[in-house]
Amino acid sequence: MPETSLPTNRNSALTSWVADFAALAQPERIHWSDGSDGEFAALTSGMVEKGTMLKLDPVKRPRSFLCRSDPRDVARVESRTFICSRLRSDAGPTNNWVAPVAMHDRLRGLFAGAMRGRTLYVVPFSMGPIGSPIAQIGVQLTDSPYVVASMRIMTRMGKPVLDALGGGDNFVRCLHSVGAPLVDGQADVSWPCNPTEIVIAHFPEERAIWSFGSGYGGNALLGKKCVALRIASVMGRDEGWLAEHMAILGLESPTGERTYVGAAFPSACGKTNFAMMIPPAGFSGWKVRTVGDDIAWIMPGKDGRLRAINPEAGFFGVAPGTNAETNPHAMTTIASDTIFTNVALTDDGDVWWEGMTATPPAHLTDWRGQDWTPSCGRTAAHPNARFTTPVTRCPSLDPLWDDPHGVPISGFIFGGRMSRDMPLVFQSFNWSHGVYCAATMASEATAAADGLPPLRRDPMAMLPFCGYNMADYFSHWLNVGRRVPNPPRIFRVNWFRRGADGRFLWPGFRENARILSWIVDRIHGRGYAVESPLGWMPRHEDLNWEGLDFPRERFHELMSVGRDASAAEVRSHEELFDLFLDRIPKEFLFERELLRSRLWRSPERWELATEQ
Ligand code: OXD
Ligand code: MN
Repeated sequence: MPETSLPTNRNSALTSWVADFAALAQPERIHWSDGSDGEFAALTSGMVEKGTMLKLDPVKRPRSFLCRSDPRDVARVESRTFICSRLRSDAGPTNNWVAPVAMHDRLRGLFAGAMRGRTLYVVPFSMGPIGSPIAQIGVQLTDSPYVVASMRIMTRMGKPVLDALGGGDNFVRCLHSVGAPLVDGQADVSWPCNPTEIVIAHFPEERAIWSFGSGYGGNALLGKKCVALRIASVMGRDEGWLAEHMAILGLESPTGERTYVGAAFPSACGKTNFAMMIPPAGFSGWKVRTVGDDIAWIMPGKDGRLRAINPEAGFFGVAPGTNAETNPHAMTTIASDTIFTNVALTDDGDVWWEGMTATPPAHLTDWRGQDWTPSCGRTAAHPNARFTTPVTRCPSLDPLWDDPHGVPISGFIFGGRMSRDMPLVFQSFNWSHGVYCAATMASEATAAADGLPPLRRDPMAMLPFCGYNMADYFSHWLNVGRRVPNPPRIFRVNWFRRGADGRFLWPGFRENARILSWIVDRIHGRGYAVESPLGWMPRHEDLNWEGLDFPRERFHELMSVGRDASAAEVRSHEELFDLFLDRIPKEFLFERELLRSRLWRSPERWELATEQ
């Protein structure tokens, strides 16, 4: 029997599940996590002693730590992520699928003895305010103290969650091991992992997740992408709500009117910056209020409105590119109480990453622990280096962020990274057109050295995160809109369009508030728009340009619609739909034909200039 700290509850479903798993993984100790300050201090000092964490300078970066992962374990691994529903067709063509029985067999083999020589931590967590009708409880069993410390920041975790669970067995079962047992007195390494055997398997019907081999981010902090998106999207399908890869933010007017929207951008398209934006000069008295930066759970409320919570309690943000210009509120948030992973270390015990300051320090220790100078030809931080930090330190945090009933959502914004053809903003004509626009969203990978950057369709920014067949997910979206009397308005945005000279046409970042404010005006029926082949668009005079000299002609270039390029885009929508055979909702076929006929009737280059 492993040595165990006393379970702090008498939940037999939970304790017998823990005991069964311990018999398989054979940990040396079992620790029931209470989520207390004392426990966090003991975990972090243990990791500092072992070399997993380095304590940063207590004046420059109070109560903060740096971790360096194994260089083979630095990001989510989509190719090793599986949706193991009973039927392959329920996982759909966009997910990796293995039959549950076969995957269970494989996992039981991998997990057998996987925790030898290690501590099994029992980590109860709540996604969403504890006790909220929208929240869910999960319990993660893990052998990674880094994961326990990170889960304490990213979720509501520990004893209050066990108390809320009581004797119930309605919790998502999350099993995680770094897959590196310590046998025969073997010495540990600072970042144990098993990169060649990584598997992240979801069992939607069992509401269970088994993750093996990786200790990093979304592979290992199972509350985030695994529970809050892949499993929760299936719960939402079954119960009539939505789990979305969305930031939640409110735009507050000088009179205190707050309008909340959900904003879905694919990974690495600036969702965190958008959620914490400080409006530019010309918007005095306006504020952006942050509810969440990555995930939204959205449920019809008693008042007939869609209400959203942020299931998380922390930000797991990409560090490179974050600075006092691009995201001042993030910089304030991470001034203390933060775990940094795979950033560089300055000689005076602080952190640095590409883009943090215009001029890099003359010397650093890079994310691999090697000497670094600006001319060495390597990046100092890994491009996917992260900060893990509590939302409560964010200056723009919304007063209702922790409200169990969530905030009322009045609009959805969808935006990918498109260097050509896609206008800065437009509003969909109605709910089903909006769902079509969201479902056909695409985003470019990184800019290619020559030729066009590769485009990836990323419906609703959910491609890697939807736990079931995406065609059913589209139908579910259509149904949710039908069930509420006045569904949110739906908008598409694109901050990344480039001109003929290859330069971005739109300054982005805080200037995006100008677009957000037009969106809010439209939501309230105040803003003006003209009809384009793609949707409703603002004219130059419909936006607030105070403090920014943005020429009308440039705006027209940003908003123009090329008929042939858009027609080619519609043809590629068909390729997406073909993947799903006849499961695709019929409404989408109508929407596609309507779009096609609007384009046929439009001039070769549709411009706002000719409409006014
Ligand atoms: C994330 C992602 O880490 O979307 O949030 O990849
Ligand atoms: Mn994300």
